[in-house]
Order: sequence, then structure tokens, then C-alpha cells
Amino acid sequence: MDVLNPVMWSVHVGFAVLWVGSVLFVTLAVLPPALRGDIGTTALGSLVGRLRWITRIGAVAFVVTGGHMAGTLYTFEALTSTPRGHLVVTMLALWFVGTGLVEVGGSKLAEGLDADKLREPARDAKPFLYGASAVSVGLIVTAGLLASPTLF
Ligand code: HEM
Repeated sequence: MDVLNPVMWSVHVGFAVLWVGSVLFVTLAVLPPALRGDIGTTALGSLVGRLRWITRIGAVAFVVTGGHMAGTLYTFEALTSTPRGHLVVTMLALWFVGTGLVEVGGSKLAEGLDADKLREPARDAKPFLYGASAVSVGLIVTAGLLASPTLF
């Protein structure tokens, strides 16, 4: 048995919780006051900066740990032709899209804040953060299906 797999799984799921939680928290709890102009630009800049860093460090963690698990638990054939393999490929695709959406939304906010604006960059970032949140929910469902071995 590969002793690395439980470690990889723990790091993977740890970052899954941290990243998905952060994306949803920023969308649900930080964006609304930013849209109303009820939060300081310094505080918002710091929160968005943290989200971007969690996304970047998470990218390394997901590729390393997810790549390890995919490489040890699946063959190329299994990834492309079994329902569980399709779920793993879906997970990879959703992560890629979600990371892109956070990067674009985060940079729109950061650029606006640098120019000392608040509500306008928050409005610009809104569709990207909503999209990233939808992708996050999709990732939770994908992980839930993978965690149901009797279904697949
Ligand atoms: C580079 C991107 C990713 C790759 C290649 C990847 C790949 C994998 C693989 C191969 C597994 C093990 C599947 C199995 O046990 O059969 C897994 C499990 C899991 N992944 Fe990902 N993943 C990625 C990103 C994500 C993201 C962004 C999340 C965020 C929600 C996530 C959440 C999970 C969870 C919660 C599990 C545990 C499911 C279980 O074993 O019960 N993954 N992933």
C-alpha cells in the first residue's frame, strides 16, 4: 500500500476546505459590504490579497496531491473511460476554471483598490466571484460523488 496516499489525501482535502471556504466567504460575506461601500479599501485589499495567495498556494497543492493520487489510484485508461475517472477529470477542469475566475476577479478588485476606488471594482469583480462560487459548489458535489463508492 502506498503510505504517501493518506498524506496526499489530507493535504488535498485540507486545501479543498480552505480554498472553497475562502471563495464562498469572500463572495457571501465580503463582497456585499464592498458593493455598498461599507468596508475600508485597506481591509478589502488585505482580504482579497489573502484569497489570491490561498488560490496560488492551493494551485500547487492541488496539482501535486491530486496528480499523485490520480497517478497512483488511476491508469490513463481508467481516467478516460470510467465514471470515477470522469469525476477526477471534472474536478481538474472545475479547479482550473475556478482558479482563473478568482484570478480575474481578484485582479479587478486589486487594481481598482490601487486607484482608490471601491464600489466600481467590487461591481466588476462580482460576476467572476459568483462564477467561482458556483464552480466551488460544483467541486463539492464532484468530491461528494467520489466519496460515495457505492454509487460509482
Ligand atoms: C489539480 C486539480 C485536482 C486534481 C488533479 C484532483 C484529483 C483528485 C483525485 C485523483 C482524488 C482521489 C479520487 C479517489 O479517491 O478515487 C481527489 C479527491 C478529492 N478531491 Fe480533488 N483534485 C483536484 C482539485 C480539487 C479541488 C479544487 C477540490 C476542492 C473541493 C478537490 C476536492 C477533493 C476532495 C474533497 C477529494 C476526496 C474525495 C474522496 O476521496 O472521498 N479537489 N482529487
